[in-house]
Amino acid sequence: MSFNMTVATDEKPDLSVLLKQAEALLSSESDPIANAANLSSMLYHNIDDLNWVGFYFLRGNELVLGPFQGQLACTRIGLGKGVCGSAYANSESLMVNDVLNFSGHIACDAASRSEIVVPFYSTQLSGVLDIDSPTINRFDASMLHFFEQVTALYRLSL
Ligand code: SME
Repeated sequence: MSFNMTVATDEKPDLSVLLKQAEALLSSESDPIANAANLSSMLYHNIDDLNWVGFYFLRGNELVLGPFQGQLACTRIGLGKGVCGSAYANSESLMVNDVLNFSGHIACDAASRSEIVVPFYSTQLSGVLDIDSPTINRFDASMLHFFEQVTALYRLSL
């Protein structure tokens, strides 16, 4: 394994470093569950002010909970429902600055206040990467771009 798995807890790496770490992580393993699990952990533990990071995978006609870090979460989300189901159904990333203003938001963890969801699609596996923060307006365009890049790397690893 070519990346350093021990990252100091008091000093978080910047996003460009994290992107390189994600690339190393995903290029050294091809199993979709193993990669989703390690990617969730890497993002959760290396980015400040997050309370949930994880995957939902398409199973039949709904999204089903995959590997994640954070509190217990809803196990099934209908397509078009909540932030995750809407992002997936509309094939677009969603950045929600205040989840209380998103009609239909599904509150798995009541602490979540802002959220990014990035969908991905392949013949083998489709789903979303979901990132939650307890802070309103936690995310900006550069973070959205970062999570889109990470999700693209994950899709390429499938
Ligand atoms: N808030 C999401 C549900 C998933 S949890 O945040 C883990 C939604 O509205 O789809």
